[in-house]
Amino acid sequence: MVETHAILTHDLTKDFGKIRAVNNLNLKIPYGKTYGLLGPNGAGKTTTVRILNAIISKSSGKASVGGYDIITESKKVKMICGFLPESPGLYSKLTAREFLEFIGELYYLPKDVISARINELLELFDLEGRENDLLEGYSRGMKQKVCLCAALIQDPEILFLDEPTSNLDPAAARMVKNLISELAKKADKTVFICTHLLDTAEELCDIIGIIVEGELKIEGTPNEIIESVSAKDLEEAYLKITGADHIDDLLAWRDENPNNHEDNKKSRRKKKKKNKKLR
Ligand SMILES: Nc1ncnc2c1ncn2[C@@H]1O[C@H](COP(=O)(O)OP(=O)(O)O)[C@@H](O)[C@H]1O
Ligand SMILES: [Mg+2]
Repeated sequence: MVETHAILTHDLTKDFGKIRAVNNLNLKIPYGKTYGLLGPNGAGKTTTVRILNAIISKSSGKASVGGYDIITESKKVKMICGFLPESPGLYSKLTAREFLEFIGELYYLPKDVISARINELLELFDLEGRENDLLEGYSRGMKQKVCLCAALIQDPEILFLDEPTSNLDPAAARMVKNLISELAKKADKTVFICTHLLDTAEELCDIIGIIVEGELKIEGTPNEIIESVSAKDLEEAYLKITGADHIDDLLAWRDENPNNHEDNKKSRRKKKKKNKKLR
């Protein structure tokens, strides 16, 4: 049977001892879309993406990626997926070229294909001229680019990116976001992004799922999510859905008249003092 969805999960669940990291997750992600799994720290995003890449096992439920079962066809899953981990390990005593050759060989790619792909990627990521420098001398943004090259070396059908912009300065984050959106549009890849950053999700994703304590709370386009909880924007919707405490306080600054800025600061300080006393 030809699978019409790039990623399908049915009641996918993962327990770490007593902790339920992922709870009955049901996803149906069509090919060619960019999907964002959005949620606070500890929500279960990394666990989900590690299960989908056949790196760790599930506790129960089912999942297929690219039509392949993540358990019985795990090798095929690995062959068609590219994965940028949250904290990738780089071999600092290798050059970028050596590292990418090594990753290409893990995918059993022929040497000439590896070499051609590396040249293409170095050009795309603007790393030409630095490819023979040791990775230990690379900046964080450059290391992230090399990790993205590694995730793309076998020209994967489906690309998983775990927190691709989280540890980058604004300029490097912008560059990575541009690269991801180009990949999604031009190469028509299915991209699955885990992030806790609203701007990254809103800018890059066609569909967003918000996960809290292992449970998928809502799914839809950014606009659908905003409308479904009558929010002003994705930030307010996210705070409502994730049940962030003191939401009115958190968002109060946005209702302020800029002319009353100082007054409002004072009144918030007063409110804070009052709350402290009450505790
Ligand atoms: N290897 C592990 N052993 C035990 N608990 C884990 C492990 N990996 C993740 N967890 C727990 O699972 C939950 C979800 O973690 P994670 O998937 O990393 O969340 P996120 O990526 O959304 O921040 C957390 O409570 C975390 O502590
Ligand atoms: Mg994570």
